[in-house]
Amino acid sequence: MPQVFKRHHNTVARATIFGGLLALVGLVLAGSNITRSPWMTRAGEPPDQPVPFSHKHHYEELGIDCRYCHWSVTQSAHAGVPSTEVCMTCHSQIWTNSPLLQPVRDSYNNDKPLVWNKVNNLPEFVYFNHSAHVNKGISCATCHQGIEKMHLTAKSQPFSMWWCLDCHRNPEKHIRPKEEVFNMYYQTPRNPEEMKAMLDKYNIPYDPNAIPRNQIELGRLLVKHYNIHKEQLSDCSICHR
Ligand code: HEC
Ligand code: HEC
Ligand code: HEC
Ligand code: HEC
Ligand code: HEC
Repeated sequence: MPQVFKRHHNTVARATIFGGLLALVGLVLAGSNITRSPWMTRAGEPPDQPVPFSHKHHYEELGIDCRYCHWSVTQSAHAGVPSTEVCMTCHSQIWTNSPLLQPVRDSYNNDKPLVWNKVNNLPEFVYFNHSAHVNKGISCATCHQGIEKMHLTAKSQPFSMWWCLDCHRNPEKHIRPKEEVFNMYYQTPRNPEEMKAMLDKYNIPYDPNAIPRNQIELGRLLVKHYNIHKEQLSDCSICHR
């Protein structure tokens, strides 16, 4: 193809683009959304989807449990995305005229599944398993942080090897009672009374003279209670099989 712009024109164009970008950054930084902006969280752009599905609406505002839609997450390697039938348990009765839901109705009527684009995607040579994590007290909130606030789903984590390994070496930093895995608002109890109440509630044995005082102490207790052998978790063959 012939060169359309001369070199110096290019530089001008680039300067203008960067100028525009800087102005945009300025606007973002000036706005009140600063902590949630992707510039700060390093979240990815949401990919295009057949329907603008909102976790904020369905989880945070309506209170629908993750397992209602991602039911295989405790049983298999994959969390899976819900079938059209799952959407239609509600949308055959509510918001039946919404134009945004037309693709869902078409999919149902024509018996053709919706094709959702992947948001999180590990390379082929990495093995991952959801059930192994969520059944041992590693929460969706740790790996898909902030999804409860998302109108469109984007990646919360780059899923680098370093990031996986950091937890595999120190799972006590993140582990919680497995009953709290689906709770996106969980916080480590902040005083001995709260801690004791939680441990009693979930039947987690502890020494009454040494009630955990913080996440690390609670984490050590849970790593033992759930029988996690963290010495093996850094072996290459765990994730590269
Ligand atoms: C009402 C159904 C519904 C509920 C409830 C729900 N999800 Fe989803 N989820 C979806 C659908 C549909 C998609 C695919 C479209 C998208 O990416 O937004 C999805 C996508 C995702 C993805 C990205 C998938 C990918 O391609 O990588 C993650 C992560 C996720 N959900 C986690 C959660 C978590 C965590 C909860 C609970 C806090 C939850 N979901 C609750 C329906 C639901
Ligand atoms: C348990 C009930 C329930 C299920 C299951 C459910 N939804 Fe919804 N959905 C709702 C309700 C209620 C609203 C209205 C929310 C509001 O406006 O606050 C809604 C709103 C929506 C909207 C916005 C419609 C508009 O015109 O603004 C879309 C899009 C949507 N849902 C898609 C889906 C998809 C896709 C699925 C399946 C993956 C799904 N929903 C599953 C209850 C449900
Ligand atoms: C230890 C980190 C971790 C935890 C905990 C976790 N996920 Fe994921 N999730 C991932 C990774 C990594 C991927 C990408 C997997 C791939 O590409 O093979 C993913 C992908 C997904 C997907 C896309 C579909 C799939 O199966 O690949 C959904 C949906 C999802 N997660 C939902 C959830 C829900 C719901 C929970 C909590 C019950 C959860 N995840 C807990 C790391 C995690
Ligand atoms: C927040 C903590 C945490 C993060 C982040 C995490 N893991 Fe894990 N992972 C664990 C724990 C704890 C176990 C041990 C479960 C057990 O002992 O049964 C585990 C176990 C595993 C296993 C063994 C599963 C099996 O079936 O034996 C694989 C594979 C794995 N993780 C892969 C990954 C990959 C890949 C990533 C990054 C994308 C990742 N993990 C991120 C905590 C984490
Ligand atoms: C807890 C899971 C986990 C363990 C354990 C692990 N890896 Fe990885 N590894 C990953 C993930 C996830 C990626 C992909 C990172 C990405 O996409 O940026 C990766 C990527 C790689 C790559 C490709 C690097 C690249 O730049 O593309 C190599 C090589 C590798 N790992 C070697 C190893 C070796 C050697 C070990 C043992 C010392 C090991 N890994 C242990 C999760 C793991």
